[in-house]
Amino acid sequence: MKKAFIKSYGCQMNVYDSGRMADVVAEQGYSETATAEDADLIILNTCHIREKAAEKVYSELGRLRALKRDRAEAGIDTTIVVAGCVAQAEGREIIRRAPVVDAVVGPGSYHRLPDLIEQAQARRKGVDAEFDQVEKFAALPRPDASRIRSRGVSAFVTVQEGCDKFCSFCVVPYTRGGELSRPVAAVLDEARAVLEAGVREITLIGQNVNAYHGEGPDGRTWSLGDLIRAVADLPGVARIRYTTSHPRDMSDDLVAAHAEIPSLMPYLHLPVQAGADRVLKAMNRRHTADEYRRLIESIRAARPDIALSSDFIVGFPGETDSEFEDTLRIAAEIGFASSFSFKYSPRPGTPAADIGDQVPETLKSERLQRLQAQLEHDRQAFNRATVGQVLEVLVEKEGRHPGQLNGKTPYLQQVQVTGAAAQPGELVTVRVTGTAPNSLFAEAVEPMRAGSPLVAAA
Ligand code: SAH
Ligand code: SF4
Ligand code: F3S
Repeated sequence: MKKAFIKSYGCQMNVYDSGRMADVVAEQGYSETATAEDADLIILNTCHIREKAAEKVYSELGRLRALKRDRAEAGIDTTIVVAGCVAQAEGREIIRRAPVVDAVVGPGSYHRLPDLIEQAQARRKGVDAEFDQVEKFAALPRPDASRIRSRGVSAFVTVQEGCDKFCSFCVVPYTRGGELSRPVAAVLDEARAVLEAGVREITLIGQNVNAYHGEGPDGRTWSLGDLIRAVADLPGVARIRYTTSHPRDMSDDLVAAHAEIPSLMPYLHLPVQAGADRVLKAMNRRHTADEYRRLIESIRAARPDIALSSDFIVGFPGETDSEFEDTLRIAAEIGFASSFSFKYSPRPGTPAADIGDQVPETLKSERLQRLQAQLEHDRQAFNRATVGQVLEVLVEKEGRHPGQLNGKTPYLQQVQVTGAAAQPGELVTVRVTGTAPNSLFAEAVEPMRAGSPLVAAA
């Protein structure tokens, strides 16, 4: 059987797409392999978000050139495809720069991979696909159950793609195109397929997921809140999450869902990016720092135990010392359970790249270091605050030591549990006993029952 190696470089949507590409090429007779060395087909699913991410693909292509040559000398063909957001942004230019590439395909048209691969193999020269934003989902096969199961108890389901926000630093509206919501029926069908494959936790994903506005089976336009309510009713679903949200699209209805739906996990990734109003405005984020603070207050009012996470950019063009201090301040005030933070990276074609006032690299590094120290402090504080609490853990796999299980708390903390006998996919009730740098320790306890002393203590 022919083998395919598919490597993801990007966000959750990129990881999801890699899985769906595996489904597509499986129909063409390729089974997935974990190494490039034994692959007849290599797909690099690239990311364009920051310069570093985009450059990684060219260094990888350098390595693959030698691999392809060695295999050719042994009489074996290798087909190399560049997919994802760099493919969308650069198109055929990639083949010019790296002739080892046989085909280039954007994130909107990978359902056409079989056709493209055949063309590339027949013509033995680079071909590219259309880069249109087409409705690929209808053309994709149902997710393959054994692939889904092999990835564990948790699965992504794309509900929305693209973005209309045009933050001034961001390439996504260009590489992924405008906002497109999948119809409710298509999302529920895919959710059922992954649940039937044994998945217990579904993360609904989209570049701007809370802008979801899909066509409902009743002819009405459904919001993300409506969709979450419907997913919560599917048999077998234990946990629901969604990511990534924009503060502007955090509707009252979605906030209310956090209070009403027990399987909707108390965790929200809601990037703030920066703490100074001038910078937020220049970023075209369309909210102020205080509006963000008030939003967090209303979310915490609906779900007091919610854990929050964020993305940050330091060194946006023109960012002053005091504006950077505003970012440190908002981070400390909110106390994020987890965060991603980046140095601003100018991206070709985005408005911010043309602002003259770029912040020097050394200053960006210094600010990033200070912000990351703050964010790490807050993350550890959040983890310590869960010590002593009684929580449910979704078991993912056996732990490192006999009798230990690994899983996640509702707050997405990795946890090692002792004293429980359970299979992956089961929920166990634990008491958190301690923290390690990147995980928690916990002991199994009797499941919580209404009126039991544990519930009162928790
Ligand atoms: N849709 C999401 C995030 C998409 S990209 C949102 O609205 O927040 C993920 C993160 O990468 C962003 O939140 C931002 O923090 C970061 N990012 C995007 N473009 C960047 C750039 N040009 N330089 C540095 N970081 C960037
Ligand atoms: Fe990029 Fe902004 Fe859209 Fe997020 S909301 S994908 S940061 S343009
Ligand atoms: Fe990267 Fe494209 Fe995702 S640019 S972050 S892979 S949408």
